[in-house]
Amino acid sequence: MTSTLPWSSYVEPAQLERERRQIFIRAWQYVGHTGEASEPGTYFTSYAGHVPILVTHGDDGELRGFLNVCRHRGHPVAEGAGRRATLQCPYHAWTYDLDGSLRAAPRAEDEGVLTGVRLRDVRLETWGPFVFANPDGDAPPLADALGRIPELVAELLDVNVLEFRLRDTAEVAANWKVVCENYLECYHCPVAHPGFSRLVDVSPSSYRLEPDGLASHQFGAVRADGRGYDANGEIERGQFHFLWPNLTINIFPGRPNISLGPVLPLSTDRSRRRLDYFFAQDVDEGWVEELLAFDEQVGREDRALVEGVQRGVSSGLIETGHLLPRSEQLIAHFQELTAQALADE
Ligand code: FES
Ligand SMILES: [Fe+2]
Repeated sequence: MTSTLPWSSYVEPAQLERERRQIFIRAWQYVGHTGEASEPGTYFTSYAGHVPILVTHGDDGELRGFLNVCRHRGHPVAEGAGRRATLQCPYHAWTYDLDGSLRAAPRAEDEGVLTGVRLRDVRLETWGPFVFANPDGDAPPLADALGRIPELVAELLDVNVLEFRLRDTAEVAANWKVVCENYLECYHCPVAHPGFSRLVDVSPSSYRLEPDGLASHQFGAVRADGRGYDANGEIERGQFHFLWPNLTINIFPGRPNISLGPVLPLSTDRSRRRLDYFFAQDVDEGWVEELLAFDEQVGREDRALVEGVQRGVSSGLIETGHLLPRSEQLIAHFQELTAQALADE
């Protein structure tokens, strides 16, 4: 049997510091969707891990990514989302153009300080309507990270015709890796998700797991006598993808739908889950409500599990746990990628 990560890695602040430096400032991360800044002169803010991100849609039509950090003393330049000709930092009113260049600052001429100051660039790329950022300017392209995810998703639906419906955010009292590892196996499904398991065939002979580069794929067929919500529709089976380090992507059987979002580390024992839900335009609200209720139930069950695990791994008395070689292979894959990134200093 393989071992889990050392349990100390879920509780030690120094570990999270290493993960911030070695993982979150170097990885492609989903930060939002093109609809959040759909017209020239609009912007939105987000996070890539702990890194504050600003996305602007310039008058030239370009989407650009920046650190949402003022070059003066570090306050965020913008909050939320909106429409502005320029972005003015609320601390001392340094004002930036949407292309990141500093346009004006009070007393700048008198004190002669400001030539050539710009917001720090962040790499930005899109997959359909999904916007990804990477703070590392030398990172390989997004397509390399996504691997086969777009192709597998395209077997079920066209992400370009979906529309954004809602964003769900929740805080969880567990380390971000505990939350990701919970997503990466369905060994717990028959035990802990009775509703999900009545709809999706979670037996090892049917439910497929596939590690694949930075991605992990899970494929779940609907049971012949599946019950839960009305899963009749264009999408005949579920796909659940994970993009290392922290992105979950869900397609449920039924009408065209996808939900995706990151697990953001807040501290060693707290994470924020964010999920953006997209549906085909003709999917009615009733069906959306039904699917959300189903998904929320699964989410409540998972929250109790990961919060329980966090208490368990925090005792400081046990060094590691055990992993099943097949049913938990995607966790082993996640741990390898994480260990590699941390070793690569
Ligand atoms: S920190 Fe932004 S203007 Fe001072
Ligand atoms: Fe679960």
